Amino acid sequence: MSLGEHGGALRYPLPPEGALEPPARWAELRERCPVAGVTLPSGDAALLLTRYDDVKRVLSDPRCTRSLGADDAARISDNESGGVFNDSMAQSLSGAGQARWRRMLTKWFTAKRMNALRPGIEAMTHQLVDAMVERGHPADLKAGVGFPLPVWVICDLLGVPDRDRDRFARWSDLLLNLTRYGQDEIDTAKAEFYAYMSEHLDAKRADPDDGLLSALITATDADGEGLTDAQLVFTGQALLVAGHETTANMIGKMMAMLLADRERWQRLVADRSLVRTAVEEALRFDANPGFGMPRYVNEDIEVAGTVLPRGTTVVCSMAAANRDEDAFTGASAMVLDRSPNPHLAFGAGPHSCLGQSLARTELVTVLDVLLRRLPSLELAVPVTELRPVEGLIVGGLRTVPVRW
Ligand code: HEM
Repeated sequence: MSLGEHGGALRYPLPPEGALEPPARWAELRERCPVAGVTLPSGDAALLLTRYDDVKRVLSDPRCTRSLGADDAARISDNESGGVFNDSMAQSLSGAGQARWRRMLTKWFTAKRMNALRPGIEAMTHQLVDAMVERGHPADLKAGVGFPLPVWVICDLLGVPDRDRDRFARWSDLLLNLTRYGQDEIDTAKAEFYAYMSEHLDAKRADPDDGLLSALITATDADGEGLTDAQLVFTGQALLVAGHETTANMIGKMMAMLLADRERWQRLVADRSLVRTAVEEALRFDANPGFGMPRYVNEDIEVAGTVLPRGTTVVCSMAAANRDEDAFTGASAMVLDRSPNPHLAFGAGPHSCLGQSLARTELVTVLDVLLRRLPSLELAVPVTELRPVEGLIVGGLRTVPVRW
């Protein structure tokens, strides 16, 4: 098997050039080494895909699975972080169970329903912007709006009262960043979350409403089977882990990208009809998205003329694929009205992001509200002083300092 000229020596993740700039290596890899051998933080070997067509195909290929617990699968790091599907409950949902769980949730997560959530999301955004403005500038847009909004939205979806939002924010942090905390703290958080959600489920059973949990409590699949309590609790956990930091960081990165170039911001202030396409372009243009999606190859497959044998671990870099000139004309420019924009920021295929309509609604709402409320918004530090977050899974900026 040819791994290309980089052999196994290239260390992954590749170092970024700057907080908003793609690693210089992406272009070279896409062109000359589309199946590149890389060494993961654990020291294990994997193959890195950077071309649009290859990434899309592998993410959609049922032979490329998420069985990263297989004995011969590469470990990402010695010290695994949280992630949505890393614990035993998640494993029990894998395969057919996961597909069934996904079908039941997908029925609820329709674009129509997500749009109906928009007035609520808009009100929450105004509330957060009010508080940020009251505290005065300079302010951290990520801490003030980006971070709280998605957890408030998930609490709302789950029917959790406002007073418990802070607890959910803390559980979310603990469940996603397992490496930052001691085992005792994690065990306590998991037990607290389980107890809270079990009680909450009982309350929803006794007094159903039109929210997600009440719908899932009574939902059944084609065989008439419903979800167990443990699966319902896991659903709350999965939504929190999958939907909080991803969206929080994307809000921060989107705003930083749009404010980094005054012309971009002013164009949007002048024409808010560009908000939807600008959000899609921010998702495509994001050069700091985190690790990418690893897959375990279950059967030999061929990618870009190279056979990947069964047992290989491949890492799909959706962000590198999103900058592929063969898929996007002028890929290295941020084009606010780009359309169509079939980027891969939400993945592709059977596991693509289930919450993408919700994430889009949140991003569109935040951008729209900020354009209206704070048209003079600007970065309070030079772009070169923005720093990426540390950690493997979700990319982002540590802070997004702004003034207005
Ligand atoms: C900008 C924000 C977001 C980004 C960039 C993002 C990205 C992704 C990606 C790339 C995947 C695919 C994982 C894979 O292929 O293995 C995924 C899966 C998922 N996402 Fe998102 N996501 C975002 C927001 C959300 C939100 C708000 C929710 C829900 C509250 C959510 C729920 C999920 C779930 C449940 C899955 C697993 C789907 C499955 O395994 O079938 N995500 N997300």
